[in-house]
Amino acid sequence: MPGNGYEDYEFTAEYYDPVYDRFTRRDIEFYVEQSKRAGGRTLELGCGTGRVLIPTALAGCEITGLDLSSFMLGKLQQKLERQPPDVQKRVGLSQGDMTGFDTGERYALITIPFRPFQHLITVAEQKACLTCVRRHLLQNGRFVLDVFHPSIPRLIDPKYLMEIETDPGIEMPDGRVLRRAQRIAAFHQVEQYNDIELIHYIKHPDGKEERLVHAFPMRYFYRYEMEHLLGLCGFRVVEFYGNFDHSPFTAESPEMIFIAEKV
Ligand SMILES: C[S@@+](CC[C@H](N)C(=O)[O-])C[C@H]1O[C@@H](n2cnc3c(N)ncnc32)[C@H](O)[C@@H]1O
Repeated sequence: MPGNGYEDYEFTAEYYDPVYDRFTRRDIEFYVEQSKRAGGRTLELGCGTGRVLIPTALAGCEITGLDLSSFMLGKLQQKLERQPPDVQKRVGLSQGDMTGFDTGERYALITIPFRPFQHLITVAEQKACLTCVRRHLLQNGRFVLDVFHPSIPRLIDPKYLMEIETDPGIEMPDGRVLRRAQRIAAFHQVEQYNDIELIHYIKHPDGKEERLVHAFPMRYFYRYEMEHLLGLCGFRVVEFYGNFDHSPFTAESPEMIFIAEKV
């Protein structure tokens, strides 16, 4: 199985924030609230460039971020250095794989925001991750993760094999202009994953143009599969939402957000 590209290509980190900083996903306030309620340190797995981690530390919470990609962690570190010392002091960073890590600590809350869990394609990887999570959680700690709610047409309709422009005309401070498109490169229905391509078109101030493709497989899960997987790994789902406004899960919900505790 190929990797997910974040640890192979620097451009994945370079263009991550310009794309996602443009709109406020409601997930940030949701996860910050979870950390505030936890009453102890949070561990965020797949913390990336700190899109959720930095607002959490700014809200006064202690948080450790773990990520596999040195490029994503490098961006996070640069952003952190621009924060006040007390905010920096609340943050710990670690490079590692969420399927096999040992930070030597236990946490009141462990989170996996914005779908890093969907980079784990096989059941063996998913179970390895959940086993590590359980081991790092305090006895009364909570585990929160989100995955997208699979839309059946998007999993089979050949129209999604075509490029769809999702983010037009993002101007960067140095004059580069980024356009981002995405497509599904292949459906793997039997193994429940799609090959995804995030396609970056960059126009440089000197007129040079680039096309950079971030390609990775992405697993999808169904509601009861996640519940059973969590059960198998020693968790019980205590809250379940269809979006970050805490709305109940329906057929139209875009997200599946699980809050679990140790059995
Ligand atoms: C879509 S980004 C999400 C980043 C961040 N949580 C956010 O909300 O913006 C996915 C992140 O998961 C990380 N990741 C993917 N597989 C991983 C693994 N096995 N262990 C640790 N991090 C991983 C990637 O390096 C990337 O930073």
